[in-house]
Amino acid sequence: MRTKIVAGNWKMNKNLKEGIDFIKETVHQIITADLTGAEVIFATPFIHLRKGVKEVKKLNFCAIAAQNCHWENSGAYTGEIAASMIASTGATHCIVGHSERRQYFNENSEQLSKKINQCLEQELTPIYCVGETLDIREAHRHYTHIELQIVEGLFHLSEEQIQQVVVAYEPVWAIGTGVNASPQQAQEIHAFIRKALEHQYNADIAGRIRILYGGSVKPNNAAELFSQPDVDGGLIGGASLQVDDFMSIIRAAQ
Ligand code: 13P
Repeated sequence: MRTKIVAGNWKMNKNLKEGIDFIKETVHQIITADLTGAEVIFATPFIHLRKGVKEVKKLNFCAIAAQNCHWENSGAYTGEIAASMIASTGATHCIVGHSERRQYFNENSEQLSKKINQCLEQELTPIYCVGETLDIREAHRHYTHIELQIVEGLFHLSEEQIQQVVVAYEPVWAIGTGVNASPQQAQEIHAFIRKALEHQYNADIAGRIRILYGGSVKPNNAAELFSQPDVDGGLIGGASLQVDDFMSIIRAAQ
């Protein structure tokens, strides 16, 4: 049994007070409504990490994630943050390879595989994102594209390490567009990713790794997406910014 994960990726939104108030209110509603059957992760800007950790510290169903880390542990990289620094706040997860990082900051596979290593060395759970653009899907190259992202980002890991990773399938054409992958499209790719993991490792390991879907997950489509056998929850952008929307999605994951 894989416990579902609902991870809110705030991207570059919310000042310190707004962010901490949001976490407090969401946690309060989760507890009041007894919706503790899924793991809830807040992937916040760096400024929220420390205070966010304090809000969720005693709750085993809640965690705080960073949205990025550097591929080195220290050095002359002005403006960057190392996985060890993230871990020192008490945060337990870190998104790696989000398509916005790949697209706007030119992150490549070599850097991303090093970021995964940095996270694992610091005992941070990497949430590794993969996904194709519309051009790639229309050219029917999405399977090979996603396979390459998985191979280059993850397949250097040992059997023990791969089990620490969460994968997120986020088709670029579905991010922020309001056009989600259909539950069938999501299931097809998730099953494909799990098969690739099985092939590289084994069925037992592949069966334990959580694969999240991201891209226009909303209160009205979350339940159907999450009901697919290989969809183990979601990585939520826009709908993770309002408590009501985020709570509906958490409810759909119970
Ligand atoms: P949206 O839910 O806004 O489409 O964003 C998805 C995403 O990029 C989460 O990481």
